[in-house]
Amino acid sequence: MIVTIDGVAASGKSSVASGVARALNIPYLSSGLLYRAATWAALSQRLPLTDAAPLLSLLNRWEADGTPLTLRPLPQGNEIWVGEQNVTDLLHTTEVDAHVSAAAQLPELRAWVDAQLHRISPPFVAEGRDMGTAVFPQAQAKFYLEASARVRAQRRVQERPQDLESVEAALRLRDERDARQSAPAPDAVHIDTGSGTLEQIIAQVLSHLPA
Ligand code: C5P
Repeated sequence: MIVTIDGVAASGKSSVASGVARALNIPYLSSGLLYRAATWAALSQRLPLTDAAPLLSLLNRWEADGTPLTLRPLPQGNEIWVGEQNVTDLLHTTEVDAHVSAAAQLPELRAWVDAQLHRISPPFVAEGRDMGTAVFPQAQAKFYLEASARVRAQRRVQERPQDLESVEAALRLRDERDARQSAPAPDAVHIDTGSGTLEQIIAQVLSHLPA
């Protein structure tokens, strides 16, 4: 079984996907983490984000050298490793937030991320922007999470202490930049995560799954 959970930034996708996956005793895959990792790789090597070729050649070189950038879909949280180095803690920074949407516009990078995800055998819960549309259109159950920009900003500020207004402005900007790949699947169940506890939202998702 494949369950897809898409939605806008900070809509609670990772927490909901992780909770649903734990309830089903299957892994969850964070596609956003792969986009973040590729963006971090480009920034750390000072590669442009307007051209996919240098970034793709870096990712391919790491793979050829035996230090590939890989997603480890662990039940307690996804991790990104480059060879033997766990780089997960470097991926949720304001700098990566500010550049990831530009990297995610590159069709060659989208194809690379999709290929990483397609290497993993189901069952799993996949979360991101286009899991139910472009990547796993055959999924048995699809969800789309929404919440107002204010609610999402309040959530982010609890994770990373920052000024609420500027966090909300940055989220709105990322929404705009991500709009192209964030359209909900026509057959997705929409859930507003602004009201209700995490447990209630997880239960709502579980109640829609095929028996
Ligand atoms: O989910 P998260 O907010 O961590 O994703 C980071 C960024 O990765 C998004 O803002 C978006 O630009 C990109 N992304 C994407 N397609 C996905 C998942 C994430 O374009 N399926």
